[in-house]
Amino acid sequence: MDILNLFKGKSVFITGHTGFKGAWLAFWLSELGANVTGYALEAEYENSLFDALGLSNKVNHIIGDIRDLNAVQTAMNKAEPDFVFHLAAQALLRRSYDDPLLTFSTNVMGAASVLEAVRNCPSVRSLVYITSDKCYFNKEWPWGYREDDELGGPDPYSGSKACAELVFQSYYLSYFQHRAAFGCGSTRAGNVIGGGDRSIDRIVPDIIRAAENGEAITLRSPDATRPWQHVMDPLYGYMVLAAQLYNNPQAINGEGWNFGPSSDSIRTVLDITKGLTMLWDNIEIKINRPKDAPHEANLLHLSIDKARSRLGWNPRYDFDLAVQETGAWYKHAMDGDDIVNLTRAQIDRFMSHA
Ligand SMILES: NC(=O)c1ccc[n+]([C@@H]2O[C@H](COP(=O)([O-])OP(=O)(O)OC[C@H]3O[C@@H](n4cnc5c(N)ncnc54)[C@H](O)[C@@H]3O)[C@@H](O)[C@H]2O)c1
Repeated sequence: MDILNLFKGKSVFITGHTGFKGAWLAFWLSELGANVTGYALEAEYENSLFDALGLSNKVNHIIGDIRDLNAVQTAMNKAEPDFVFHLAAQALLRRSYDDPLLTFSTNVMGAASVLEAVRNCPSVRSLVYITSDKCYFNKEWPWGYREDDELGGPDPYSGSKACAELVFQSYYLSYFQHRAAFGCGSTRAGNVIGGGDRSIDRIVPDIIRAAENGEAITLRSPDATRPWQHVMDPLYGYMVLAAQLYNNPQAINGEGWNFGPSSDSIRTVLDITKGLTMLWDNIEIKINRPKDAPHEANLLHLSIDKARSRLGWNPRYDFDLAVQETGAWYKHAMDGDDIVNLTRAQIDRFMSHA
């Protein structure tokens, strides 16, 4: 039996469902028959995936700030969730340089509020807490970071995600370790790509905006290497983890999990730009390396041996397939195709891809 059948009829609480990954996850879980409650700020961008998927009609849609404990607690207790997925965050590296306090308050105290709400919500049996691969202190090693490597970060975003990991660890050791019929895990994934991301300062949406407007695309760090993966791969990992925490919490409670691509998907910003721009005619690629650009790590990738061996999870899409599905999604969306059917078909294809 497919492990995802477990979600049918269950109550699931997702923070950050108006964002890129959260909208995919909320849609996917509602397709699986879960009763989804989403808690987040308003969708930030025009043509958001949240709107395109009609999620306000598919999930119990709550606008609220995760830093407001009373509001999170009230929403969570009302939903009586079996599962909680925490994705809400200030997720943009460059914005973290402009507004470090917003980043720390959201990603650290906001995350702490969600943990506190879970602590006081007895229905929750499984919590998946999303941080980032940037939580690891980046030593520019050529090998992958493992779950017990040192935490830390040179920029406010990375630092906030390292702090979020420490907050998780404290809650686990203080409150969740011995809670009956309950399991939790923190997850670290890398740069995800896929249809519907509209964020600023992320490479795929930047390329799509250039394609939509017939403009050139300018790359600041063409040689930076990233572990690109299709958004469905880590989301599938989060759901597999959630299900295993629900079914057998003691075996894996309180641990960290990396969900990255296999090592052949570690490619440069220029590679992904070339892969995506091939789908449109005549998009010019310009390189502009600013001298005073804020620090961005050159190399960071994850070891995924633990999730492979202990959860039986494996990335399904290689780099080419991830880029192909991402480009196809935007191309069909630009042609006016039905986004719900398009996204549903992509999920079906992913699930039938061994
Ligand atoms: N997209 C990536 O490549 C990537 C890579 C690694 C980790 N992550 C992590 O995955 C998670 C989801 O990322 P995403 O790409 O979907 O981000 P996103 O920016 O698209 O969405 C962020 C979501 O968080 C919500 N949010 C922000 N501040 C909030 C607040 N104060 N109160 C309530 N909600 C708030 C937003 O409303 C939105 O729903 C984040 O934790 C992010 O750090 C993302």
